[in-house]
Amino acid sequence: MFRFVIEGRRPLTGTVKASGAKNAVLPIMAASVMAGSPCVLRNSPDLSDVRIMSKILERLGATVERTTDGSLVIDPTTIEHHVVDEMHMRQVKSSIFLMGPVLGRMGRVQVSYPGGCDIGQRPIDLHIKGLKALGASIEEKHGNILAECEKWEGIDIHLDIPSVGATENIMMGACLASGVTIIRNAAKEPEIVDLQGFLNAMGARVKGAGTDVIRIEGVNELRGAEYTIMPDRIEVGTLMIGAVMTRGDVVVENAVAEHVQALTSKLREIGAEIDFNGHGIRAVGKSRPRPTDIKTLPYPGFPTDMQPQIMALLSIADGTSVITETIFDSRFKQAEELGRMGAKIRREGRTAIIKGVPALSGAIVEATDLRSGASLVLAGLSAEGRTIVRGVHNIDRGYERFEEKLMSLGASVKRVPEDRRS
Ligand code: UD1
Repeated sequence: MFRFVIEGRRPLTGTVKASGAKNAVLPIMAASVMAGSPCVLRNSPDLSDVRIMSKILERLGATVERTTDGSLVIDPTTIEHHVVDEMHMRQVKSSIFLMGPVLGRMGRVQVSYPGGCDIGQRPIDLHIKGLKALGASIEEKHGNILAECEKWEGIDIHLDIPSVGATENIMMGACLASGVTIIRNAAKEPEIVDLQGFLNAMGARVKGAGTDVIRIEGVNELRGAEYTIMPDRIEVGTLMIGAVMTRGDVVVENAVAEHVQALTSKLREIGAEIDFNGHGIRAVGKSRPRPTDIKTLPYPGFPTDMQPQIMALLSIADGTSVITETIFDSRFKQAEELGRMGAKIRREGRTAIIKGVPALSGAIVEATDLRSGASLVLAGLSAEGRTIVRGVHNIDRGYERFEEKLMSLGASVKRVPEDRRS
């Protein structure tokens, strides 16, 4: 267990490279299970969630190797088990993505309810509904979900909510079904486009990702593929906010401007300078941010995964801002911790009213989930004095070498074991 010790008030300046996207590599790792030969996933971030997913694949019988150039080489040909380990299921939400692919390969799968970040209700009813419609028989016993399928058949399904995970699970399952599957009201996130790219590289026939109708024409088999994982737009956005909050000047390389448009427009609105060039995205913070209102929405709306970080920024804005969280029901965990640093935030259900203060001050705070952890690190970078962020394992789930990247930009962030005095 580690904590970060941050000495604040140092502007972030310089150039940093975004890592591969956590939310793209995890479903793609799951999809690799269906391949008839090894897969190479380039630009795979070295994150604890990725390491757990690797262990899950190994327990199923695959071999997973990380190369020095940041690729994961997955050989699924030796997979012989269909039970996903309960302990690992609890550690990472994305383990649910294995349902469709393992069913497709083995004809049966056993999983338990997934864990992941504690950000409110995360049901999986839409995943189950989709896989049942494809032909799986699914029963629940003592907290385990056992699914079997003799024959996958293409379906026309309308999702009640454009769930990212359910869209991905059904997309993967449908690749090996007979006939055509249409997913309507599908999620449109860039990570779904990346999954489509990988599936098609394996020989699948998927069209429409990035729109709300996805069409999958089933094929008999999939082959191994080499694929480069897209850049992590949430990491990119976190670094942009860090630059603005510390009145710094940062270029994030390997970033896709289109993926962060909702954030860019908000950052410009609050007075930051954001430029794009061939090399990346430049974010400059020149003055105290102006207040603004934000509502989280499915892509291309403002991402819920950036909400805690923008809350940190708005807590030092020159006026009052309102954030409405529409995706998850318990995603303001950082508000109380930011309060320890002097932020003035009032919560009313899914709304937070943030009365900006001129500056935050260092305190001991707890990262209770991945993105709230990132928000506390950003707050610490801009605060006066020393901030200690506990619970760094939650941040390690989704930020690769976070403190190293921040230090390369001039921040003072030390990783210290929990039992040692800083
Ligand atoms: C994914 C992302 C997560 C992001 C979220 C929303 C991954 C690994 N994680 O999570 O970082 O915050 O998208 O952009 O890609 N829902 C149901 N039933 C279901 C599934 C979802 O009611 O079967 C609801 C959820 O409770 C939530 C909403 O749908 O309110 C959106 O969830 P979903 O898009 O599925 O998020 P995840 O795939 O879990």
